[in-house]
Amino acid sequence: MTLPQQVIAGNWKMYKNRMEARTYLEAFLPLIDQTPAARRIILCVPFTCLNTFTEHTSTRIEVGAQNVHWQPEGAYTGEISAPMLVELNVRYATVGHSERRQYFNETDETVNLRLKAAQLHQITPILCVGESKQHRTQGETESWIRNQLDIGLQGVDLERLIIAYEPIWAIGTGDTCAAGEANRVIGEIRSHLGNHPVSILYGGSVKPSNIDEIMAETQIDGVLVGGASLDPLDFGRIANFQPLGAAIKS
Ligand code: 13P
Repeated sequence: MTLPQQVIAGNWKMYKNRMEARTYLEAFLPLIDQTPAARRIILCVPFTCLNTFTEHTSTRIEVGAQNVHWQPEGAYTGEISAPMLVELNVRYATVGHSERRQYFNETDETVNLRLKAAQLHQITPILCVGESKQHRTQGETESWIRNQLDIGLQGVDLERLIIAYEPIWAIGTGDTCAAGEANRVIGEIRSHLGNHPVSILYGGSVKPSNIDEIMAETQIDGVLVGGASLDPLDFGRIANFQPLGAAIKS
């Protein structure tokens, strides 16, 4: 499977119940009526909302979970398996988000297991990587991310993967990484992966006000949006971005 270049993904985190999800869809779907088909729109929503989305089979939104376990079933209280997601027609899952790493002790090793399990069941994982403020100030951004990739991606098929570069200090802070810097780090990630054309997204305080600038960058294939994906108008504007210098990257 070859993924289209541009991916506009939202991560709702632990927000919205089913009723709110339905209201959201009513407002959001008309806004992406004219969005170019080459832009893949994915929403990673809470488990309870997955079915609300997948039953809208006519929509052009693709649905993702926010986690996936490495075993198909078992005594793993509170976890969700890939076959369970597949049964709901879920085809994506974020893996290794910094909030999972920070609050739920997710490690590069468990991230690796989750990535492989997702792919085994035809779920495209969205691997999140990124450095803390401390790593950045100590000049360890590249080595930190390289390490996350080296362990996380062992045995993982790059053809069926999306990567999101999410600097932790830019998540939910309004402190967006400058587009040029995000482009540079994503270029480093790509080069570390042998210049593979895997889709690499930027995430961290993406908003309607900065999306055009971000999507004008040559290495950035899309965005993973947290807070701004909760508002249909904001996420609609993001999906309908108009890259500055659009001729370069149509
Ligand atoms: P914000 O867009 O709210 O900064 O969140 C980014 C994020 O964590 C997406 O996964």
